[in-house]
Amino acid sequence: MASVTGAGLTLDVSYQAIEIPGLLKQLQLPENFDAYRRQLLKGEYLNVSEQRNVTHSLCRSIHAVTGRSEKATRFDDIVQKLRSGRWLGATGKPVTAVVNIGVGGSDLGPNMGAFALKEFANDAALNELDVHFVSSMDGGQLYAVLPLIDPETTVFIIASKSFGTIDTFANVNTVREWIKPQLTEQQWLAQHVIGVSSNGVKMSDYGIPAAHQLTFGEGVGGRLSLWSAIGLSIALSCGLYTFERMLTGARAMDKHFGEAPAAENIPLLMALYGIYNRNELGINNLAVLPYDGRLRMLPSYLQQLDMESNGKQATADNKAIDYATGPIIWGDFGPNGQHAFFQHLHQGFDAFAADFVLVLKRQAPGFSSAVAAKLAEQQQLSVANCLAHRQLMKFGAANEASPRDHYPGGHPSNLLYMDELTPETFGALIAAYEHKVFVQGVYWQLNSFDQPGVEMGKKCALDILASLEGGNEPAFDESTNELIKKART
Ligand code: F6P
Repeated sequence: MASVTGAGLTLDVSYQAIEIPGLLKQLQLPENFDAYRRQLLKGEYLNVSEQRNVTHSLCRSIHAVTGRSEKATRFDDIVQKLRSGRWLGATGKPVTAVVNIGVGGSDLGPNMGAFALKEFANDAALNELDVHFVSSMDGGQLYAVLPLIDPETTVFIIASKSFGTIDTFANVNTVREWIKPQLTEQQWLAQHVIGVSSNGVKMSDYGIPAAHQLTFGEGVGGRLSLWSAIGLSIALSCGLYTFERMLTGARAMDKHFGEAPAAENIPLLMALYGIYNRNELGINNLAVLPYDGRLRMLPSYLQQLDMESNGKQATADNKAIDYATGPIIWGDFGPNGQHAFFQHLHQGFDAFAADFVLVLKRQAPGFSSAVAAKLAEQQQLSVANCLAHRQLMKFGAANEASPRDHYPGGHPSNLLYMDELTPETFGALIAAYEHKVFVQGVYWQLNSFDQPGVEMGKKCALDILASLEGGNEPAFDESTNELIKKART
């Protein structure tokens, strides 16, 4: 068995195709890797194309430093006021619901964290807040949330690093209309909106009072921002103490990443195994399979973290690349995946690598001992299933006489496990993946902190929107022209 431990997590690489010493011999990190790693952890690594330092690691200490900053105090005050029921709406009623409107990093991390850590709320909030998330530009999510809330008792968080994302403001504009029978726009802006952004000027221009603005640094990438003020909805869902515990776990992983030797370093080994699977074995995808319902949003979160960072064909100094970079990340939480796509994983033709994420034990405070015992049994069931499927994917099972009962196996996987899911191990898990993506970016010589492909997609969408809204003959390809005309009528 080959496994390494750090910050409350264990990475078992026994089911990878190569052992750790061989891996380290075969894949050499560039000479300047140590310097880059130090820079990253100190917030000094340069995002060259956007000419700014990468500072998300620093956010993990904002709340823990002695002599609290003004920013952190405002964050704490807002959380305490909302969680204690002391935040009154414009008509004098206590606020009972919060809606986070944001997309990408302004949605995925907060949404995942708020869900995963909700059960750890222990600040005896008098006012259990309902925390909702709305991201999609089509309004489908908003449509479902609006009937559940009341303008007079709801606060909307406009979460947008740029404070200009069209998806987010499409939802905000609809909300601004929806509140009208009960509130004026002035009342709404004064008492029912919190802005979270790195652009304070835009928040002020929008009319958000300074006391309800939370800012964070430009150097905190959207996909790395859950530790910053963007994490407000996590703190609202589970309380400040739990939020800080999450930061503490991430810091422990920073320390492990910065100090552990390569052969014992979790993020570094995750990165190198990923590179080996991608470049040496030619496997173009990684299935993320968490075996705990609380981590059900992990695959979507990691899709942005990994694919937006390393799905690239140019080096940081803008040279074309002729080797494969970041794989396609996909998945779902394991127990559900078993009843959906695992058939293909066991007997389909396609190569894949997998990350199993496993929680060994579960406490169930708040339940009777009989129910807690049942929940513990359920956790065991989940452990058994995780280990069984992982085994079958690795070793397969042959039956020469019956192809139907042939399971080829041979699929490499990591097992990342923890004794219990706690705010600390959750924070460490997410930080481990962040560092993995960083290491891979350095190896592949990418700038992992920009996203020109996404920006280009946004530009193309604006061109089509202009054509949809204008009356002229559309001038795209035949299929697009046809659809624009249909959507106009
Ligand atoms: O999708 C591209 C992107 O820029 C992401 O990187 C970011 O997380 C998301 O849009 C949302 O951006 P913002 O927080 O600025 O609204």
